[in-house]
Amino acid sequence: MNPTGIGIDLVEVPRLRELLERHGQRFKERTFTAGEIAYCDACADPAMHYAARFAAKEAAAKALGTGLWAEGVVWTDIEVVREASGKPQIVLHGAAKQHAAGANCLVSLTHTRELAMAQVILA
Ligand SMILES: CC(C)(COP(=O)(O)OP(=O)(O)OC[C@H]1O[C@@H](n2cnc3c(N)ncnc32)[C@H](O)[C@@H]1OP(=O)(O)O)[C@@H](O)C(=O)NCCC(=O)NCCS
Repeated sequence: MNPTGIGIDLVEVPRLRELLERHGQRFKERTFTAGEIAYCDACADPAMHYAARFAAKEAAAKALGTGLWAEGVVWTDIEVVREASGKPQIVLHGAAKQHAAGANCLVSLTHTRELAMAQVILA
């Protein structure tokens, strides 16, 4: 496995909580996939998990190359899914998948009530 990219991002959970409160479903559906929404909304403090996924999308964009948004990639093209163990994984769709050209996106998430962070390695 030969790493070809790395990205990291930190998100303030209260900022994400405010976006969720102010823009609700419209923000959720523009930014997160149905699977991500179902998982986060089932958690005791959804904002923390949304923030971690937001960080993962930004970190993946850094790993893939930051010009992504200009190239037609949308937020939902980068999806965080979970293995049975709880371990997160990134699945790429659409323009993001094309951009990755077969490379795997490895991700790790961490969060508190204040901060959420993600690291992504492209390999
Ligand atoms: C899974 C584990 C690593 C999560 O760590 P945590 O400090 O409780 O929580 P963090 O905020 O750092 O991380 C949470 C994220 O870990 C990720 N995670 C969950 N299970 C995971 C696993 N098996 N492997 C990798 N990542 C995992 C998830 O992405 C989760 O976020 P999400 O629910 O939004 O998807 C931890 O609970 C664990 O099992 N540790 C094993 C080692 C151990 O037992 N340590 C305690 C004694 S020293």
